[in-house]
Amino acid sequence: MSPLELVIRYVFLAAAACLVLGLHLMNSPATARRGNLLSATAMAVAIVSTGILLVEDGAIDATGWIVLLCGAATGSAVGLYLARSVAMTAMPQLVSIFNAVGGGAAVLLAVEHLQLSADASPVGAAVTVPGALDIVIGAVTFTGSIIAAAKLQGIISGSPIVFPGARVLNAVLGLVFVGGSVWLVAQPGSVLALTVLLVAALIFGVTMVLPIGGADMPVVISLLNAFTGTAVAMSGFVLGETILIVAGALVGAAGTILTKLMADAMNRSLLNIIVGGFGTADAPDAADTSGADVRSVNVDDVAIQLAYARNVVVVPGYGLAAAQAQHELAGLAELLEEHGVSINYAIHPVAGRMPGHMNVLLAESNVPYPQLREMDDINPEFPQVDVALVIGANDVTNPAARRAGNAISGMPILDVDKARSIVVIKRSMGHGYAGIDNELYTNPRTGMLFTDAKKGLIDLSAAVRSFVS
Ligand code: TAP
Repeated sequence: MSPLELVIRYVFLAAAACLVLGLHLMNSPATARRGNLLSATAMAVAIVSTGILLVEDGAIDATGWIVLLCGAATGSAVGLYLARSVAMTAMPQLVSIFNAVGGGAAVLLAVEHLQLSADASPVGAAVTVPGALDIVIGAVTFTGSIIAAAKLQGIISGSPIVFPGARVLNAVLGLVFVGGSVWLVAQPGSVLALTVLLVAALIFGVTMVLPIGGADMPVVISLLNAFTGTAVAMSGFVLGETILIVAGALVGAAGTILTKLMADAMNRSLLNIIVGGFGTADAPDAADTSGADVRSVNVDDVAIQLAYARNVVVVPGYGLAAAQAQHELAGLAELLEEHGVSINYAIHPVAGRMPGHMNVLLAESNVPYPQLREMDDINPEFPQVDVALVIGANDVTNPAARRAGNAISGMPILDVDKARSIVVIKRSMGHGYAGIDNELYTNPRTGMLFTDAKKGLIDLSAAVRSFVS
């Protein structure tokens, strides 16, 4: 090993340590941006170092460099553009596309390396076993993520698509994975073994994701993200690249933990997700509140309540994001705080449409982090809350979750119904994601302010201002 290569190996080690540290910093909203920057910088340093190694080895000719640099520039430009321009509500689709690209890249690495090294010198099981795993996991991720993105974008139906014989087909594909992997390990250079394995995995990605229903898609995207990391880690073993192993393992582990947390927060079993058919069992079946009394309130009623409350807990949900009313919310909160009202925000883990959706949204309007309270932390305090102000949140507040027999049974909820008084801002009696009536709306202590979240918050600020001035 040349002195330069030795230095670069240490740089890789430092970059790997920075990736771990970056992930750790993402634990808190206060340090998450720094964590993101640190991880991105570590990855950039690793990429540049790899480039230096390639120059030192003379491993790539001029044409290879042109292809490599053009590919890197195009990929970076497209990634940057998409990340900056995508609407917050379309973020799950974007993550899904990134998963597809990551899984696909890991497969290409394994295919290319297995073919090249098989030609040059015989490869052992230490390369072919992770190689087979890389091809299976990466290819499943590739097609599965494309189907997931298409479902979320509405290109194909977001509902579960079940076709006859799907389970038998999946069982056959499972057998092909085992047989094809053994074949590939026994005959590392076999193009046929590689092709069979690859095609089976590409088909499985489609058959795995098609039967999964809309509300469960983000859990699947998180699972596919974990698969991407695992495929990349496997490609690290194939190429003998430590940084790929570390980065891939981190994504794999973090994605698995996130998948478990999301599944728990939506009361889904992880085993169900992996075995398949999940998201198809629940039929909307909550109490029908259509005949019950709903108390409609106006802006002035709510403004008085808020201005004279000691404490207000804001419960943000998907509707706040859809209305892009986070800045108006922060403005109202500031006004109330100036008037001596204590403000907190109750954050449900699956409020919105992606993990951390409400945290990101409120961070955009510079809401102080200590005011963001997690569900388990804030729930015991609701009985002492003067006003729970629910803005565009529905399912995450629905007391029907405490009863069996409906689409959200068992899902932990924010105990909004225990507050002294409740105000809900939404446009109609329309349903949330789960498609069931919300029993909170017919609670005698609930007042419904039927309006768009942005308009409602602007009007409320004006009304509060007129009361307190
Ligand atoms: P939802 O239950 O989906 O309810 C959102 C509500 O916002 C709707 O009832 C809608 O009522 C209202 N709304 C929409 N646009 C609005 C606007 N411009 N102004 C005011 N209100 C508006 O939201 P949630 O309580 O945040 O719950 C999230 C749901 O999504 C859960 O069922 C969860 O399981 C599911 N889910 C979450 C995730 C993650 S990871 N966060 C992923 C997938 C699914 P109107 O139409 O009457 O206004």
